[in-house]
Amino acid sequence: MNDLLLRAFKCEIVPRPPIWLHRQAGRFLPQYRAIRANHSFRTLVGTPSLAAQITKLPIDLLGMDAAILFSDILVIAEVFGFTFDFSDGKGIRLKEPEQEIRRDVHEAVSYVSETIKLLKKELKVPLIGFCGGPYTVSTYMNRTSPEWLEKITEATIDYLRMQIEAGIDAVQIFDSWAGKLEPLDFQTLSLPYLKKIVDAIKLTGIPITLFGRGFTRYVKELVSLEPTALAFDWEKEMSDLRREVPAHIAIQGNLNPEILQGPLEALQEKTQSILNSMKGERGFIFNLGHGVIPETPVENVRWLVDYLQGLPFN
Ligand code: CP3
Repeated sequence: MNDLLLRAFKCEIVPRPPIWLHRQAGRFLPQYRAIRANHSFRTLVGTPSLAAQITKLPIDLLGMDAAILFSDILVIAEVFGFTFDFSDGKGIRLKEPEQEIRRDVHEAVSYVSETIKLLKKELKVPLIGFCGGPYTVSTYMNRTSPEWLEKITEATIDYLRMQIEAGIDAVQIFDSWAGKLEPLDFQTLSLPYLKKIVDAIKLTGIPITLFGRGFTRYVKELVSLEPTALAFDWEKEMSDLRREVPAHIAIQGNLNPEILQGPLEALQEKTQSILNSMKGERGFIFNLGHGVIPETPVENVRWLVDYLQGLPFN
């Protein structure tokens, strides 16, 4: 297996930084759009053979160093009886249940386990499982109270344990909107719940990465949780972040997805500048600072992956 990502998590010396991209399994790929034309998003997520096929698309076509499970952070809301879907032009729709329920994770979202088991038979790169941060999930559910944050946290821990039992190699928590909170709110609405999840999952020995837009503002607080890695957006230079984050914690990022859209010269210049500034550093995983924009030319992504993989780094 290509173990570059797992070695970067351990902050070992590696021949080059591993690369994968947020939302690599998604709409920028014509092959995804072709499958999506015939099925709802919920059907794709909930059908293991289709979800596994989409997870593998970017790996087979472009050769990233890790796969991320094709699913969504809102899947967990199904445990509480919410239903979700995305229809073209309408964005996210999360529908409230008529009465409050709490289903067992294994029963409610077993399709995620099935997808992971299918993928583990075939993949030759690590498979990243994921969940949303309780704060971010709670905003989509319209339930941002301490009581609900607690319930979502408990369900999320069960959910990640289920993914780990099924065979994933690493976990990323997307608390996408938490870094935008004011400091006091971040301390009360996001951090304590992230801590509970990190503490529970670290016991399993599976690497755990925390991602959020605006996390560059809360490096000290996030480091105090002792995750395996922190994933940042482009609000600070990666090399400055490397100095701020202790050497045993890996860092991931941080190309602006708008730059990936092109022009190619600008993409080349920025990529080279990030890589030059990180030359010789340990614990660096190349990624975007947020998801691939659907209109991004596939050729730009191909250039990026090929460039990283042809690199004499250290
Ligand atoms: O490739 C991957 O990264 C794996 C799959 C993945 C998806 N969503 C697929 C998806 C992952 C890791 C996510 C995470 C996710 N989902 C986040 C956190 C990361 C981030 O982007 O901030 C959030 C906030 C969501 C919730 C969500 N899902 C939104 C807001 C939307 C609609 C807006 C959008 O970007 O489309 C989705 C839909 C979604 N999730 C799609 C995909 C491929 C598009 C669905 C379609 O085909 O119509």
